[in-house]
Amino acid sequence: MSGDSGLTVEGLAHDLNNVFETLSEAAELLSTDAKWSRVANTIRRSVRRGERIVESLTETISDAGDLCEILDNAVQHTEDVLTFTRGTAIQYARQVADGVTLSGSPAAWERVFVNLFLNAAQANPHGAEVAIGATCEDGVVTLTIADNGPGIPASILPTIFDPNVTTKKSRGRRGLGLHIVQSIVSEHGGTVVAENRQPRGAIFTVTLPQTGVA
Ligand SMILES: Nc1ncnc2c1ncn2[C@@H]1O[C@H](COP(=O)(O)OP(=O)(O)OP(=O)(O)O)[C@@H](O)[C@H]1O
Ligand SMILES: [Mg+2]
Repeated sequence: MSGDSGLTVEGLAHDLNNVFETLSEAAELLSTDAKWSRVANTIRRSVRRGERIVESLTETISDAGDLCEILDNAVQHTEDVLTFTRGTAIQYARQVADGVTLSGSPAAWERVFVNLFLNAAQANPHGAEVAIGATCEDGVVTLTIADNGPGIPASILPTIFDPNVTTKKSRGRRGLGLHIVQSIVSEHGGTVVAENRQPRGAIFTVTLPQTGVA
């Protein structure tokens, strides 16, 4: 982005606020009819998420975010996307050690999980099962997200975190999700690795310091 102050993230946030306000007003209107209250609530949650994502681009907070809360938000976010894009809901299994926290922006971590969950759902459109693991040992947090899909094609495995690497033809797909995941993880001082597992499925492993830098 250029150095022009009108083209900064703050400028983008300012203009996106108009979008969020419009959507919020539309949700308020919809919520006056009981038939649309579920849709109105989904729009409200989506607006709040959009606002949090924009805020996360400018905030410098490094508070510890509770992993369970971040996962709850990411699961709800993913379910909203799948419901309204006619995807099949994911079955989750969590094995999360007590007290694991992720430093930095909770909204950024939510983006990491949502991108990984959506990929799992898209790889296995008939009903993905996602196993989430989290441990903290000797100050190192290890997160694993494993699915029961067909696994990652060998041809793209070495470059999977590069931008524009995709096997999907659907509208709007740009092969950016995993690039975003890697960028956020590395901004927090961590690394992410993608592998296939036997007999099937992909597994993503994130390793980072418990008190990683934001
Ligand atoms: N869990 C998974 N199982 C199988 N293949 C996967 C999985 N996650 C990612 N991939 C493969 O990696 C590619 C890149 O994923 P990435 O999330 O970066 O982009 P995308 O999903 O294609 O598009 P976008 O995320 O921008 O909408 C996917 O197109 C898919 O081929
Ligand atoms: Mg993706």
